[in-house]
Amino acid sequence: MDLFDALMNRRSVRRYKADPVDDKQIEAILEAGRWAPSWANTQCWRFVVVRDANVKTQLASTLSTVKLPDKEIDNPAFNAMTAAPVVIAVCAKTGIAGAKHGSSGDATEYATDKGDWFMFDIALAVENMLLAAHGQGLGTVIVGAFDAQKAEKILNVPEGYRVVVLCPVGVPEAPGKAPPRKELTEIVVKDKFT
Ligand SMILES: Cc1cc2nc3c(=O)[nH]c(=O)nc-3n(C[C@H](O)[C@H](O)[C@H](O)COP(=O)(O)O)c2cc1C
Repeated sequence: MDLFDALMNRRSVRRYKADPVDDKQIEAILEAGRWAPSWANTQCWRFVVVRDANVKTQLASTLSTVKLPDKEIDNPAFNAMTAAPVVIAVCAKTGIAGAKHGSSGDATEYATDKGDWFMFDIALAVENMLLAAHGQGLGTVIVGAFDAQKAEKILNVPEGYRVVVLCPVGVPEAPGKAPPRKELTEIVVKDKFT
């Protein structure tokens, strides 16, 4: 698959066929995640691969509503959480991405004024994973609107780690329709903001 084709034709998929997804396909997705760039190669990501129907149902119950500019709706990925044969919970070890090495004291010191870069590094891994799924004819959606503390309890996530996103993975029921993107003229600035 051509790189630009993959970048532009990957879609969030929320409806899946009953077809299974095998361990090899999941491993390829996890491999793609593990090769993402990260702050000082700290690789803060950890992946929980959930196939257990009961655990998927419990995770689905943590999904929150989504606030749109004009209304609040149920999370559109709710059914995806149980319909997908696999949900990957992407977790982060906190306090290492963006941390200043060699610092003394017990509070983590960060190298930049942006603090912990874990959300950024996780996002890089997740985009790789979405593309690796798409490249294998599978569909995924990033689920960010959920109660992470509840999900951490369900998954027995140890202290010092956060669940950042949940990604159901399955065979798409139908090709997704692309939501519109802003034109480059709206988002690119020449030299400086005026
Ligand atoms: C950080 C983040 C959180 C998201 N959370 C949700 C979510 O909770 N539920 C959902 O259905 N989609 C969620 N999405 C998917 C977006 O709605 C989707 O990527 C966007 O509408 C663009 O569509 P596309 O992925 O098909 O290009 C999330 C995406 C991102 C990047």
